[in-house]
Amino acid sequence: MNRKEFFARVGFGAASLLVPACISGLAISCSSEDGSVPSAPTGVDFTLDISSGALATDKGYLVKNGIIIARENSTTFLAVSAACTHEGTTVNYVGSSNTFHCPNHGSNFSSTGTRIDGPASTNLKQYNVSLTGNTLRVYS
Ligand code: FES
Repeated sequence: MNRKEFFARVGFGAASLLVPACISGLAISCSSEDGSVPSAPTGVDFTLDISSGALATDKGYLVKNGIIIARENSTTFLAVSAACTHEGTTVNYVGSSNTFHCPNHGSNFSSTGTRIDGPASTNLKQYNVSLTGNTLRVYS
């Protein structure tokens, strides 16, 4: 390998390391093109059937209408805005600690959406929930 070939290979390798996580990890949503974080949904009022699917078992969760809804146990459900307040990545529910975690840069939020640590500087918005039979109402 001559000098020119060496720098061509090193240059290409270094450039590939600089690809932003948002481009290389397309499965993770990031902030919008103008860099703003999606705002927390307003005017929320919808219902979910918890008799089947992710909310049928403790520690299960799903995302609907920009809100992450989690089942802590058979009588306690949580609902907070799904977009991390740092750069908008969808957070996950961590049942073992009853918290929400952002997989992008590691921010953590309590079960009520209060910021615990990480680069996010503000809380997730908490929504009201009420359970009637197998119908869970999520509302603001
Ligand atoms: S987008 Fe969540 S911590 Fe950065």
